[in-house]
Amino acid sequence: MSYYTINDLEHYFKMYKKSVREPRKFWDRIADENFVWYQKWEKVFDVDMQEAKFKWFVDAKVNITKNCIDRHLARKGEKTAIIFEPNNPDEEAQHISYNELYKRVSKMANVLREQGVKKGDRVCIYLPMIPDLAVAVLACARIGAIHSVVFAGFSAGALEARVNDCGAKMVITSDGGYRGDKTINLKGIVDEAMPKCPSIEKVLVAKRTNSDVPMQEGRDFWLQPLLDKALDNSVAEIMDSEDPLFILYTSGSTGKPKGMLHTTGGYMVYTAYTFKNVFNYQDEDIFWCTADIGWITGHSYILYGPLLNGATTVLFEGVPSYPDFSRFWEVIEKHKVTQFYTAPTAIRSLSKESLEYVQKFPLRSLKVIGSVGEPINEEAWHWYNDHVGGKRCPLVDTWWQTETGGIMISPIPFVTPTKPTYASLPLPGIQPVLMDELRNEIEGNQVTGSLCIKFPWPSIARTIWGDHQRYKETYFTAFPGKYFTGDGALRDEVGYYRITGRVDDVVIVSGHNLGTAPIEDAINEHPAVAESAIVGFPHDIKGNALYGFIILKEIGEGRDRANVAKEINQLISDQIGPIAKLDKIQFVSGLPKTRSGKIMRRILRKIAEGDFSNFGDTSTLLNPEIIDQIKNERV
Ligand code: WT7
Repeated sequence: MSYYTINDLEHYFKMYKKSVREPRKFWDRIADENFVWYQKWEKVFDVDMQEAKFKWFVDAKVNITKNCIDRHLARKGEKTAIIFEPNNPDEEAQHISYNELYKRVSKMANVLREQGVKKGDRVCIYLPMIPDLAVAVLACARIGAIHSVVFAGFSAGALEARVNDCGAKMVITSDGGYRGDKTINLKGIVDEAMPKCPSIEKVLVAKRTNSDVPMQEGRDFWLQPLLDKALDNSVAEIMDSEDPLFILYTSGSTGKPKGMLHTTGGYMVYTAYTFKNVFNYQDEDIFWCTADIGWITGHSYILYGPLLNGATTVLFEGVPSYPDFSRFWEVIEKHKVTQFYTAPTAIRSLSKESLEYVQKFPLRSLKVIGSVGEPINEEAWHWYNDHVGGKRCPLVDTWWQTETGGIMISPIPFVTPTKPTYASLPLPGIQPVLMDELRNEIEGNQVTGSLCIKFPWPSIARTIWGDHQRYKETYFTAFPGKYFTGDGALRDEVGYYRITGRVDDVVIVSGHNLGTAPIEDAINEHPAVAESAIVGFPHDIKGNALYGFIILKEIGEGRDRANVAKEINQLISDQIGPIAKLDKIQFVSGLPKTRSGKIMRRILRKIAEGDFSNFGDTSTLLNPEIIDQIKNERV
């Protein structure tokens, strides 16, 4: 019986049970049979959920790039590893074979070594979605440097904060980058940040836009001439299974971003295993994840997961709306993509456009479609399932987090029957539990609670870089002995999970616990409402009251906003109860959102409170300009 590949529902249940009853045996088999190690482990794991200390494949020695590249060369050297699809559809796509990837990563690794980067050093990678980005990430892993990829949409301030937090020695960037009809001056942003980044010794600059950029003598170096001179083979550093692989920053609910640290062996095993099963990956498949490598989704499912399985992975530089709204569908058709993995926010925006954009393309190559990043609402689920998946491709709604390293709860295509808006069942090795306010585990089905994981898995983040105390407090103290996800979930009558959203968004009004999500759902049913966000604010009598930020569509003739506000409260009253009525309603033109489409509620909370003193880290916002506008029009 195969441990690595799940074949049918019975096999899934068998494997699941084994992973819970005999986790050591389960992960031992998977790690042993599917990877190359310099030296195997003494123990499968050594874990402590109280102290938040985790070791997987204890004392094993490995290099993840040996597993991503070298071991495929004998049989699959000429196979395409990466298809680069440029922003501009008129620019030719590039097919990078495993042989070529080996050479490029080796050259880059040699350049990094020559430039003084050593095992354990932090290298900040601030590049657009071009092959150099993939190569730079893998080159760091090859020599044991810890990569910290910073999304190329981030500002100088965000870059500076991330560089300084981890004390990076080097930045790898480019002259510029393309995104839709925009050109981004990345080198200019780096130049703005560098004076405040004392740890940076060198800046390597790749060419993408061929724009004229100033180079600072002794600090800045063009990458290409260095690569040209470098040898195209390299020895991989021998890493301990628990040596750090990368740091990736995620925004916390307060204060500065958290540098989540992932290590080598466990991350490798778990991303490979989940990629194989969640996407039903087969040898000839062409996999496309539309995320940016600046996010965990890109780390785990553009690069590591696919390459570990010897897959062909698409690296897309552009955006879904350029040159028009059919770009995604056109690229699927062009490269005969078999698995397509994107975010609900992209689906929702594309579903608002004419159906012709998607219907022009038969999309017959697709086998599996996936969703990640936020709850996918019923309407978006069906649009995606019907018009992209053609009702024949299983839609995998994958729940996970930067902290989890890999997918945790998801259907397995052709194995787990899907159910709209449900992430469905935990993958083998993952033990979710729902907890009530009294910190008790809620047994049985048809229940809701705070989602925790009660047993460690191989790719759990090991710490927050430089702040283990914060790591412990954020994830392991709310429910002692368990990892707290920060999400709420519902378990239906057959044990399927539906993630309902962050549980930090509960507001207590006159002693009643009110989830903001159901209130928003009620409001969104009003025909004039496009989107809404509800937060609590302090109230003399009720303790807290509710403040609604609401985006309207056209409200129709002969109606005014005061009427709409009244109707909204009536709807809430009808659906949830008068207790959930909004004390204040502010109509806004937009909401502060992160790039992954999440509303940054802590900013709205501050505005609702009338506290404009410090909005904390807003570097992950897509539209920071909206804050002032909302603030100025506060009611
Ligand atoms: C948070 C983690 C994991 C990669 C992208 C986001 C939400 C993620 C789902 C889903 C409902 C989801 C959760 C989670 N989330 N996937 N399928 N259904 N919610 O990574 O930025 O670390 O965010 O995203 O709230 O806690 P992230």
